[in-house]
Amino acid sequence: MPKKTQPLSVVILAAGQGKRMKSDLPKVLQPLAGHPLLAHVLGAATALNPALVHIVYGHGGEQVRLAVRAENLRWVQQAQQHGTGHAVQCALPGIPDDHTVLVLYGDVPLIRTDTLRALLVLTGPKSMALLTAKFDAPEGYGRIVRNAKGQVLRIVEQRDCSARELKIRECNTGVLAVNAKLLKRWLGKLKPANAQREYYLTDIIAMAVKDKVSVAPLVASTAIELLGANDKLQLATLEAEYRRARAHELMRAGVTVIDPARLDVRGSVSCGRDVVLDVNVVLEGPVQLGDGVRIDANCVLSQVQVGSGTHIKPNCVIERAQIGSDCEIGPFSRIRPETTLHDGVHIGNFVEVKKSEVGEGSKANHLAYIGDTTVGSRVNIGAGSVTCNYDGVNKWRTEIGDGVFIGSGTMLVAPVKIGDGATIGAGSTISKDAPPGKLTLERSSQKTVEHWQRPVKK
Ligand code: UD1
Ligand code: CA
Repeated sequence: MPKKTQPLSVVILAAGQGKRMKSDLPKVLQPLAGHPLLAHVLGAATALNPALVHIVYGHGGEQVRLAVRAENLRWVQQAQQHGTGHAVQCALPGIPDDHTVLVLYGDVPLIRTDTLRALLVLTGPKSMALLTAKFDAPEGYGRIVRNAKGQVLRIVEQRDCSARELKIRECNTGVLAVNAKLLKRWLGKLKPANAQREYYLTDIIAMAVKDKVSVAPLVASTAIELLGANDKLQLATLEAEYRRARAHELMRAGVTVIDPARLDVRGSVSCGRDVVLDVNVVLEGPVQLGDGVRIDANCVLSQVQVGSGTHIKPNCVIERAQIGSDCEIGPFSRIRPETTLHDGVHIGNFVEVKKSEVGEGSKANHLAYIGDTTVGSRVNIGAGSVTCNYDGVNKWRTEIGDGVFIGSGTMLVAPVKIGDGATIGAGSTISKDAPPGKLTLERSSQKTVEHWQRPVKK
């Protein structure tokens, strides 16, 4: 008979202060791949479609609540931290008896949804599931005590271990899944009879065994996803593991990664065929790269879509932008939010584009600022040209028609319109609309002083 799946309540323990981080930022808000640790755990949890996610918070109260968001989230305050058992207990009033409760830690961010699914399969009205892992250096972890038949009997915390128990390498990861009604019964009986005088969640294992509820252990296949971040060193270890995993994912999907140790993929990134990523590239999702996109060294792309065949040369920073196909960007270009570059656009060195739309085949190859501007197609913007979009109080728009040629060193004082096919003479300050198809320039006449002599040194 197929087992009827019970509604799921996920409890994330996040009340700890994280003294060893030596930081004003609460531990669960320390960033991993640019996002709070807690947000990673929440991501793994919400992928299970739980009925509710209960986050037990304490340290950094309001700050923690503001930092992460999700649907069906319930915040539970644990004002004083009396242990993991007490923390789960704080969440119980909001959990119906028929729910399965999955306990996760806010500071163990690499846990995978697949692992959690496997754990939930082992959970039922007469069985609870426990995620364990074998560590070469088990210091600090609770040890899993099994009998001769291999059945789990209890968990002993490191501080309460006998010399023999200290040698056990199988450890408690802290992740477990159990029926809510059973959990409520057992948590009600917890006593702080241990070295730390805390209410240990781990004590429910022995209670389960006593009540003839089987404890189904799942030994995790990789220890990496169970690593916690207690200090900055561990945080960097996790960051490296995350980086490696994401780079491997991309390579398996066919992306050429010149050095996986020097690629940072954060959030969702999708790539077409034959994409090449050079060293020191940072991709902050969502990022979509079309077929044949090349990204050269030292580029940061955040929330960007790039069309096929586009080449992004070294040292570009591109944020919240859409870039068409067959464009050439960089080296040293900065593309800021709300920018759309159509197909075949060239943006060259030391060019900044902000909140602008640039039409097909248009070029700004050197030293320019294009802000709050609509640029038509086949436009050429000369070196050193600037849209003067800000009068010190308000921002104004510049409109440049199709086929326009803007001479070098032009100041376009917005609001201003340049008609289709217009040519603007180099060095002009244009503060009135320029008509289509004509040459407009603003320049004082050039003069030569005939009998002038250079001063001589006294
Ligand atoms: C716990 C387990 C241990 C396991 C280890 C895995 C217990 C008693 N021990 O030990 O068996 O091997 O995790 O990492 O459960 N927290 C609260 N409120 C509290 C106490 C803790 O929210 O009152 C949170 C912490 O913020 C942290 C998590 O629970 O995210 C674990 O707490 P921690 O004190 O680190 O437990 P350990 O002693 O490491
Ligand atoms: Ca810990």
